[in-house]
Amino acid sequence: MENINLKINGLDVSAPAGSTILEAAHLAGIKIPTLCFLKEINEIGACRMCVVEVKGARNLVAACVHPINEGMEVYTNTPRLIKSRKKTLQLLLSNHDKKCLSCVRSGNCELQQLCREYGVDDENFFEGKVNHYELDTSAAHMVRDNNKCILCRRCVAVCEKVQGIGVIGTNNRGFSTMIGSAFEMGLGETSCVSCGQCIAVCPTGALYEKDYTQKILDAIADPDKYVVVQTAPSVRAGLGEEFGYPMGTDVEGKM
Ligand code: SF4
Ligand code: SF4
Ligand code: FES
Repeated sequence: MENINLKINGLDVSAPAGSTILEAAHLAGIKIPTLCFLKEINEIGACRMCVVEVKGARNLVAACVHPINEGMEVYTNTPRLIKSRKKTLQLLLSNHDKKCLSCVRSGNCELQQLCREYGVDDENFFEGKVNHYELDTSAAHMVRDNNKCILCRRCVAVCEKVQGIGVIGTNNRGFSTMIGSAFEMGLGETSCVSCGQCIAVCPTGALYEKDYTQKILDAIADPDKYVVVQTAPSVRAGLGEEFGYPMGTDVEGKM
C-alpha cells in the first residue's frame, strides 16, 4: 500500500494511505488522548478530546476521523489544544455525577484519568444545567447510571456492530439526549443477551455489573443448599484473552 509522508510535532512520519492522524501518530509513538474512539467500532468524532492542529486549517480537527495527506503538518500538544481539551473535560464534568469516591470505576476510569492529566477536577468545571436520571436496574446482570454517561456511544456501537443485538441507542435530542432502549424500555425488558460487552467498553462508571458476591457467599455458607456455579460464555473467552491466549480461545477447564 502507498505510504503518505507527513510531519507530526516536527517529526517525519510515514503511514499507509487512508490512515487517520490518530493512526499515524500511534505509528510514530505519539500519544493523542481519546474518549469516544474505539478502533474499528466507534469512529464517530463525537467527544473532541483528540483535537489536533493542522497547519493551514482554521479549526482544530478530530484526529480519530481526519485522514492524513501528503506533506501535512500536525501538532498534537500546543497550548491551544490543551486549552480546548481542558474545556471539553470541564463541560463533561458540568453534567456529570462526580462522586468518584463511591464510583465502581474510580481508579480505572478514562474520564477521571484525563481530568487528572489536564488538571480538571470537581472544583474547576463549568457550572450549568444538570440532568438527573433514575438508575436502570431492570436487567439481571447490570446497572445503567446515565448520570455518569458522557454520550460517547461506544456501548451502542459494540452492541450493534460486535454483538449484532442493537438494543441500546440514543433517546431524545440535544441536552436531553440519553442512552436507553426503544420506547423507554428498561434494558431488562429488551432482548439484551447479558453479554456485558457494553460494560467492557464504557470509559466511565455509567455501566456496571450487579454484584451478587454476598448472595453467593451466603448460599455457600447455607448447609441446606448445594451450590452449583456456571460461568457465562463470554467469560470463558474473555478470561483467556486476559491471560494472553488468542482471541476466542475457550479456557473452560483451565479457569
Ligand atoms: S465515572 Fe469516573 S469521573 Fe465519574 S464519578 Fe466515576 S470515577 Fe469519577
Ligand atoms: S453508557 Fe458508557 S459507553 Fe455508553 S455512551 Fe455512556 S459513557 Fe459511553
Ligand atoms: S476520540 Fe476523537 S472525537 Fe472522540
